[in-house]
Amino acid sequence: MASLKGLILAGGKGTRLRPITHTNAKQLVPVANKPVLFYGIEAIAAAGITEIGVIVSPETGPEIREVAGDGSRFGVHLEYIPQAEPLGLAHAVLTAEPFLGADPFVMYLGDNLLQGGITQLVQEFQEHSPDALILLTAVPDPENYGVAELADTTDGQPPRVVRLVEKPTQPASDLALVGVYMFTAAIHDAARALVPSARGELEITDAIQHLVDGGARVESHIVRGWWKDTGRLEDMLEANRLILDTLPGGVQGELVDSHLEGRVTVEAGALLEHSTVRGPAVIGAGATVRHCYVGPYTAIGDKCVIEHAELEHSILLSGSSVRNLDGRIESSLLGRNVTLRRSERQPRAYRFLVGDNSDIAMP
Ligand code: G1P
Repeated sequence: MASLKGLILAGGKGTRLRPITHTNAKQLVPVANKPVLFYGIEAIAAAGITEIGVIVSPETGPEIREVAGDGSRFGVHLEYIPQAEPLGLAHAVLTAEPFLGADPFVMYLGDNLLQGGITQLVQEFQEHSPDALILLTAVPDPENYGVAELADTTDGQPPRVVRLVEKPTQPASDLALVGVYMFTAAIHDAARALVPSARGELEITDAIQHLVDGGARVESHIVRGWWKDTGRLEDMLEANRLILDTLPGGVQGELVDSHLEGRVTVEAGALLEHSTVRGPAVIGAGATVRHCYVGPYTAIGDKCVIEHAELEHSILLSGSSVRNLDGRIESSLLGRNVTLRRSERQPRAYRFLVGDNSDIAMP
């Protein structure tokens, strides 16, 4: 088989994660203090693929380029491919055709996380040489995904893919298409044959259906470990939990009169004073935590300042500060440079300066 390439799709707008995504690419929102996109790049690199195209939008391209660079830190080469408009995943493949050429490739949605990586799947793809290999997993809400219908085979082969429907109102199964696909160059002609879907996009799901209809061999693989599409706040928090659970912990920063329980990562230059941190948790580089309780499943970003506060099961992006709060913060996502504090000013009242699409819940 010709050399395998990678294609990461990082052009989406991230509407479900607003307001964070008004100012940040959704693929750069950190999970356990690392941009979600990096997990995908690392998974592809670990599978031995070194040529990776990254589809970016005009809005988020410069930021993604700046953060991920030329790929050398991952041992790969990243080639940025602008997609002028978000016209669908199959449109992204066509946009990348000059980069992909006739080579087979792994397509990875840049906001997806897959436990266990893709190394084994890449091997399977290379050994079986199907025209396409799709990953599936059972979900409770298949209507929100592309859904596959499988049929048993009589010759002992794995189930055959019969039909794929994008976000069906009446799903034929609970098997969702995971955002990682392996294709041969046959996908380009399939994508070219499409018309836009009801949401105005060229759907990769329809392109794969086109392959099936044309008699191509489309294999499926049921994912056993967890998979997360980090499109919504709940998913981000869950992804954060799942990844924090895999970190060993370790202290590089400084502890003064502080107490760590369980697996806690304290990055270089972080300072903890008179605080208790119950892991799994990560405190980012250069962060300051004073007179605080930080509970499980919390990721505090670089240079955050937390004083006289309690928080757990939350994600704080870099540069945010939380000071002198009465209650405990939980299940929250704070953007970059957010300030939350109690003020002594009279009259005692809530005072907000909050961006579009923010969501604030108070007891
Ligand atoms: C896309 C695909 C869908 C797939 C999902 C996985 O959906 O169209 O088939 O199940 O990714 O994350 P979207 O994120 O565009 O709604």
